[in-house]
Amino acid sequence: MKVNFTDILTSSVSEHGISQEEILSSEKTLEKVKKSINEKRDKLYFPLNLPTLMESETKEIKEYAASIRDSFDNLVVVGMGGSILGNELLHFALKGTHANLENEKKVYFIDNIDPETNLTLLENLNLKKTFFNIITKSGSTSETLLNMLLIKDLMEKKNINFEKQVLFTTDPNKGFLRKLSQELNVKAYPVHPDVGGRYSVLSHVGLFSAAFENIDIEKLLEGAKERDKHFQENKVLDESSLVFPLVQHKFFKEHKVNINVLFSYSDGLEYMGKWYEQLLAESIGKKFSISNEVVHSGITPVVARGPYHQHSTLQLFMEGPYDKLIIFLVPNSFKKDYQIHEEFKNEPAVTFLENNTYSKLLLSEYTATKMALTEYKRPNISIEIKEINEEEIGNLIYFFEVSVIALGELFNINPIDQPSVEVGKRITHALMGDKNYFDVLADIKKKEEKDKFLLS
Ligand code: PA5
Repeated sequence: MKVNFTDILTSSVSEHGISQEEILSSEKTLEKVKKSINEKRDKLYFPLNLPTLMESETKEIKEYAASIRDSFDNLVVVGMGGSILGNELLHFALKGTHANLENEKKVYFIDNIDPETNLTLLENLNLKKTFFNIITKSGSTSETLLNMLLIKDLMEKKNINFEKQVLFTTDPNKGFLRKLSQELNVKAYPVHPDVGGRYSVLSHVGLFSAAFENIDIEKLLEGAKERDKHFQENKVLDESSLVFPLVQHKFFKEHKVNINVLFSYSDGLEYMGKWYEQLLAESIGKKFSISNEVVHSGITPVVARGPYHQHSTLQLFMEGPYDKLIIFLVPNSFKKDYQIHEEFKNEPAVTFLENNTYSKLLLSEYTATKMALTEYKRPNISIEIKEINEEEIGNLIYFFEVSVIALGELFNINPIDQPSVEVGKRITHALMGDKNYFDVLADIKKKEEKDKFLLS
């Protein structure tokens, strides 16, 4: 993996960039950040230990996944937010966006509660041949539990034993799902109490569904460990997972760049963008600093896919406000490619495409977009990987996790918690008639009395 920072420098994008001297003068700051991350590794930043900790678990996960694969044709993963985004990232990046057309064993995701979507999936799957992995760390996320109730109901209506076709992944001791696993005698993988959803992809949360579809989970962990080794051994100014957050933070502070676009030139890697979207947003978007000052920190992530978004949002990135840092994510080669044959002679619209490989246009468009943005003084970074494989993806996951934690250190906020996600959850309980939330309901009624502004 190579991270190219050239086009954030003033020498590339003049007054919209930052100088090399500024980066060099931040050595002490980065050393402090690295020290602090290492000091907090055993508690607050515990997820950084997952690649090593999970090594002893992979054998069991692989054996169990193989036994499920022998008996079932489909795996449906059910979860919300951090309890499913990593599974989707591994599936789409490593198996491809149309993997279910190609592979004998199919993997599906239920990551929302739109009744039309979920009933369409569940009514069309052969439930007798389908295994479910219900993932909720807290064991109390309403959407995940609603989906579980739906699945259980549909199975029981067909006289299928739900308990025999489900795996739970949840807190080792607490929560409804843990209790239910004991009552129903359902296998339940643990989510370590110090591993929050968005940092859990390299735990049982992400590894079981990956192993089910023959993703090499050992290589995935190897890739992550490789990045950790880099992080530990490299000098701070040579370590991209530290220079990257430094740059994000400098652009935010000095140029008011509060939007980061993760622009992937690969359909599968777009899901790395969707996973990173949550990681960056939930980790850095905070009202209070560690020292309890009101800071309202945050960088807004935007997920884009090339060349698709060249035809929708690129115009804005090129000519709109100077409030964006573009981060390209690009594989240098593809597992599948095609040599286009000569078909039309002297047709300017197509002859330049003929006798070229299919991927050449994609990669040329990436280079062209990068050059065009730089010409328009739009700061951009390129993360390039040789090809999409388990080691590279493991490395990238760890790179983004450690860089977000470092960014949290630079903002002086806690990148691990998400205190305000709870507010909406409480109101939902009240609106659904949950007696335990009567006080919230009274508050809602009061708020409904305010002035209205409605149009049709
Ligand atoms: O990153 C997070 O902590 C959240 O996105 C959670 O993963 C999400 O809210 C689901 O929580 P749970 O795993 O408890 O169902």
